[in-house]
Amino acid sequence: MKTFFVTGGAGFIGSAFIRSLLADDPNVRIINYDSLTYAGNLENLAGLDENRHVFVNGDICDRSSVLAALPDDVDAIFNFAAESHVDRSITSADEFLRTNIIGTQVLLDAARAKGVRRFVQISTDEVMGSLPDESDEYFTESSPLQPNSPYAASKASAEFIVRAAIETFGVDAVITRCGNNYGPRQFPEKLIPLMIANAMNDEPLPVYGDGKNVRDWIYVDDHCRAIWLAYENGRSGEAYNIGSRNEQYNIDVVHAILDALGKPYDLIRYVTDRLGHDRRYAIDPTKAETELGWKPLTSWEDGLIGTIDWYRNNQPWVEHVRSGEYREYYRRMYGEV
Ligand code: NAD
Ligand code: DAU
Repeated sequence: MKTFFVTGGAGFIGSAFIRSLLADDPNVRIINYDSLTYAGNLENLAGLDENRHVFVNGDICDRSSVLAALPDDVDAIFNFAAESHVDRSITSADEFLRTNIIGTQVLLDAARAKGVRRFVQISTDEVMGSLPDESDEYFTESSPLQPNSPYAASKASAEFIVRAAIETFGVDAVITRCGNNYGPRQFPEKLIPLMIANAMNDEPLPVYGDGKNVRDWIYVDDHCRAIWLAYENGRSGEAYNIGSRNEQYNIDVVHAILDALGKPYDLIRYVTDRLGHDRRYAIDPTKAETELGWKPLTSWEDGLIGTIDWYRNNQPWVEHVRSGEYREYYRRMYGEV
């Protein structure tokens, strides 16, 4: 039996990772350590085997709580826990610096203290900044780190913290840098679930700027398999870029969602652009394909339709997360669009 310590496992990607790990391998036990911020949701963990999945409510910045929750025989820490939304980091960066940087340091210290065999840091392509429009440039592992938002800067800082632990203390660690994920259970502050939820309710769809920013979309389960393979096959000290070679203009994503739901384009509202809005992300995943033996399995068309169906069939989940704090956030962020 292997034991893994997963942080942020009540969020979108962490919960998908836990689901697939438990389904794929009966000899795995998971400690899911999450402080249940607005983005953490116990409904994301419904139906999991309680003998193999133990949930601990704790903050990764709380050293004594992390040490108390982390046993001595852990095979790996997968660090998903983060403040993850760019727009919130523009409004206020404090919590991003605390969780994403200090929290990573606390986890690395705990990993050393408890002899954890490997540390997997879930990073993002945003640490590499923005690419020019319509160019044939791609993010590779040798692209410089030049983050543009407070969120991206905090994730780049976390990468340096991981590097320091490897170089100074010989911690065994790998880093994954993925592009934009989509799939079931994503919090509807992010583009795809926000547009699906609004369209389902015949509410306006706020598109930033000219709608021509490009994101490289990947289905969440493909990202999760890459993280697993980075744990199994990755070389310590290395970063791996994860992407599906699926660049899309934002406006095309919005049109595809409206088409699938049979809703009119006149729900679209062009709104004030995001400050410092990165123009284009595009990932070259060659290293992950060759070194990790990874490739994506879900096409954009199937993934998007499956995701829309999930939100259509899980309206109570959507309504729960769209109540409370979300309403206040939405009003602050978008006003009366
Ligand atoms: P999310 O916002 O859905 O979930 C984050 C989770 O972390 C939540 O469950 C939250 O409660 C928990 N958390 C936050 N602060 C915490 C703290 N101090 N202590 C313990 N738990 C805490 O995020 P996500 O989209 O699932 O992203 C997961 C990870 O993947 C993040 O590290 C993010 O930077 C990275 N990532 C995300 C994407 C994407 O497209 N969503 C792409 C690449 C990388
Ligand atoms: O690239 C990986 C990153 O992708 C992750 O590290 C982040 O955690 C994740 O949030 C995501 O960042 P983005 O800023 O790219 O994702 P978001 O869904 O917020 O926005 C995607 C694009 O859509 C971006 O160009 C901004 C635009 N957008 C977003 C929202 C929420 C709109 O036009 N309107 C909106 O209402």
